[in-house]
Amino acid sequence: MSKVVVFDETGAPEVLHIVDEPALEPAAGEVRIRIEAIGLNRLDEMMRAGAYPRPFRLPHARLGCEGAGVVDAIGTGVEGLAPGDPVLVTAVPQMDLNGTCAEYTVVPASTVLPRPADLDATSAAALWVAYSTAYGALVEKSGMRPGDQILITAASSSVGLAAIQIARQIGAVPLAVTRHSAKKEALLAAGAAAAFATDQDDVATATRDHTNGAGADIILDSVMGPGLAKLATAARFGATVTTIGWLDPRPASMPMNAPLTIHRYMSFEHTLDPVVVRRIAAFLDAGLRSGALRPTIDTVFALDDIVEAHRYLEKADQFGKIVVTV
Ligand SMILES: NC(=O)c1ccc[n+]([C@@H]2O[C@H](COP(=O)([O-])OP(=O)(O)OC[C@H]3O[C@@H](n4cnc5c(N)ncnc54)[C@H](OP(=O)(O)O)[C@@H]3O)[C@@H](O)[C@H]2O)c1
Repeated sequence: MSKVVVFDETGAPEVLHIVDEPALEPAAGEVRIRIEAIGLNRLDEMMRAGAYPRPFRLPHARLGCEGAGVVDAIGTGVEGLAPGDPVLVTAVPQMDLNGTCAEYTVVPASTVLPRPADLDATSAAALWVAYSTAYGALVEKSGMRPGDQILITAASSSVGLAAIQIARQIGAVPLAVTRHSAKKEALLAAGAAAAFATDQDDVATATRDHTNGAGADIILDSVMGPGLAKLATAARFGATVTTIGWLDPRPASMPMNAPLTIHRYMSFEHTLDPVVVRRIAAFLDAGLRSGALRPTIDTVFALDDIVEAHRYLEKADQFGKIVVTV
């Protein structure tokens, strides 16, 4: 049997409940994972709350698009994985059906990777979505190069902190943006070359001051909303703005400073492509081995406290990843 977090209608965290149901058998090409830890993502909240951008199964929707665990059983035709292997579940495309928020889940073998050495289950569960998104958006999409000045909004999010570390790993210069000046010091300690707070600084002016008037080469924006146009004035002539989220759900206004390349990035465009997944895994492995990359954990909840974990996720005020352990 498997404890599974499900919800039958969308709404507040209290719609989540835990049921006991038989663990499914993996079909051909699938793997059953005994989950040890789950990384929570903004996508989980959007799905639970009814703001998910695609249709999904209700009632009895599952949740969770990443996790860490151990291979429990393999279907026919699966190669390179064996029961007992410590693994990561990288990006579950249909989390309503096989979400990771459970004791067991069955997923396509293509979404399972060996767990990087020396990474415990909690840190491993915090790795994939944050780091693959930051890597995909900055390296694959925006073409980040050594020396680039990278302005990162929502820098204390798990993706933001991953972006700071990845920029450092490449030799670029991460400039962190937070809403709260109280978080500046922690962002500097996390590797930011400078930290700007919207409750204190004009971000565009501060960026220009920090870059000798040039502006940022790349802006990685998780916020959007009406502030996007003003934020983009922090960009240098010919820069790239890559938006990855809309923490401010109000309509975004189009930046009018040009030339400017604007991307809207969804990590699934890369994480469902096995060739790019190999590149991401190699990059992350190198960074973990050298010590350049290390997931930042904000708080760990138990699976039985999933409602509490979602209440905390809803506050959107953490520094790093929220992880649920099984
Ligand atoms: N495109 C993709 O494939 C992809 C994949 C994963 C995540 N994402 C996006 O990446 C972003 C970060 O996700 P996450 O799960 O790492 O962390 P998260 O929980 O969404 O981020 C929390 C942090 O964001 C900041 N924040 C929250 N609401 C804000 C607002 N209205 N305006 C400005 N800042 C706000 C806060 O930092 P301060 O208190 O320091 O301001 C907070 O600590 C989200 O937008 C998410 O949707 C995109």
